[in-house]
Amino acid sequence: MNLVRFGVSLPGELSQRFDALYRKKKYANRSEAIRDLIRHALVEEEIEGDALVIGVLNLLYDHHKRELQDKLTLFQHNHHDKFISTTHVHLDHDNCLEVILLKGQAREIKLIADQMIAITGVKHGQVYLTSTGKELR
Ligand code: NI
Repeated sequence: MNLVRFGVSLPGELSQRFDALYRKKKYANRSEAIRDLIRHALVEEEIEGDALVIGVLNLLYDHHKRELQDKLTLFQHNHHDKFISTTHVHLDHDNCLEVILLKGQAREIKLIADQMIAITGVKHGQVYLTSTGKELR
């Protein structure tokens, strides 16, 4: 790998806070932490619009809610080409957690996630978009 070195000037207090942060986050050194910060910024830029992304969607719901399970299943069948996997965990007598992996264009994945989270009976839902990794070194 071709490594490039460059100097960064920071105000003293910012530098001290960054040093405290990267140690707290368990990075071995500043360079490792800065590389991850840069990759994070690049991914944030990448996961927009028609870019191909991976979505990690969590849905927490009460399976006793009428028709909820059917709606969630129907939704996944209607968009089956976007769903990579679904893991269903029976958390207790009432609560279920689904961890769903999606792949598709950023705007499609966001829309699917928003629609599923908004289904009546879903107590908590959150989607996290990440890169397919192809553009990251
Ligand atoms: Ni369940």
